[in-house]
Amino acid sequence: MTTDFGKKFRKDFSFEADYVPINHGSYGTYPNVIKPVMREFQDKAEQHPDRWNRFESKEIIKSNLKRLSKLVHCDDSDLIFVPNASSGVNTVLRSFPFKKGDKILHYQTVYASVDKTLAFLKDHYQVELVRIHLNYPLEDAEIIQLTKEAIDQEHAKGNGKIRMAVFDALSSLPGVRFPFEAINSVVQENGILSLIDGAHAIGQVSLNLTELNPDYFITNCHKWLYSPRGCAILYAPKRNQGFIHPTTINAAYKFHADSTEYSSFAQENVPNTIDTAPYLCIDAALNYRESIGGEEAICKYTHDIAVKGGALVAKLLGTQVMENSTKTLTANMVNIELPAFKTSKTDPEIMAFFLNKSIYEKHTMLSIYKNNSKWWVRLCGQIYVDLDDFQKAGEAVLAIIKEIDEQ
Ligand SMILES: Cc1ncc(COP(=O)(O)O)c(C=O)c1O
Repeated sequence: MTTDFGKKFRKDFSFEADYVPINHGSYGTYPNVIKPVMREFQDKAEQHPDRWNRFESKEIIKSNLKRLSKLVHCDDSDLIFVPNASSGVNTVLRSFPFKKGDKILHYQTVYASVDKTLAFLKDHYQVELVRIHLNYPLEDAEIIQLTKEAIDQEHAKGNGKIRMAVFDALSSLPGVRFPFEAINSVVQENGILSLIDGAHAIGQVSLNLTELNPDYFITNCHKWLYSPRGCAILYAPKRNQGFIHPTTINAAYKFHADSTEYSSFAQENVPNTIDTAPYLCIDAALNYRESIGGEEAICKYTHDIAVKGGALVAKLLGTQVMENSTKTLTANMVNIELPAFKTSKTDPEIMAFFLNKSIYEKHTMLSIYKNNSKWWVRLCGQIYVDLDDFQKAGEAVLAIIKEIDEQ
């Protein structure tokens, strides 16, 4: 067991030699020890496809869900596997029986695919979208206040109820922790169902779903938990399982007029014919995490390096880290303001320029975005990064900005 993390851990992963892996948050990655485990499951699937798909893989799926349920503290029969967070969010939003005029509360920091899923509901089912704008850095108390005000304002109109609130556990851009526990309480106290997009949560922040008691919670295991892609879980407590059906309906489908009618939930959510190997590697991912020191040690290092790395880059750029007075925003992702630059490029062009330059010339990935009328870059701590990776990322930012300025 070791907690002496940093660059030496690169050998446990498959990165190209000079790649600067400072953007774990987008796609995640998994340790090499999991590769033969996954391959073995895939081989088994071919040795006797019927036995595997009809019986054996199902048992291993169950045991992996059981292990995950211990990590996130919930009943394993309230968890199902889905391929990714987008699918999980779609499962809930596209099967929940919204009625014309129902309102859905959300924030402009919502992930792009989730935002479009909400647009789909508006276009097809005439739900109304209530959007709260978040200009960071914000105190948790300010987010809570904005949320309470928006709910009061909408309910005072008397023209339809907010049925559901969709919010992140940690948003993508900005890569910040959202006060999801407090917002969950606020919305539920107002009779609103909570759908938490925890795409970035598991493996980055500790979760106790029984205590949190969200109405729906989705989290990607292929981001911060080191499972192969795509592997995510959807949590739906039994009181809410009856209304939820997978986006791709299977033979077990049953209509339920009552949200608490959960008898077909597990069967409806048995995966169709796909490669379930990523789901089956949870055990191996958690074994690896235990072997290197466990959840607490991993999260401590990834958080500390993000905080230190963010400060280093802010100093290099002559700017500031996006943080509030109680320092709740930075978990393993840190956001640093970019220095001012002059350009005739549009915002999408600037983003595309950074994307291409950082990937193809700087051999890294710099996720930049605008919030509160400023440009920011999101950088990620991980067990395999050191401060000099942040230094390199900061230098790449400066070089790309210089190029933009000179064009
Ligand atoms: C907050 C958030 N939600 C949803 C997603 C979508 O995840 P996936 O591509 O695994 O569906 C992401 C991906 O980065 C995300 O950051």
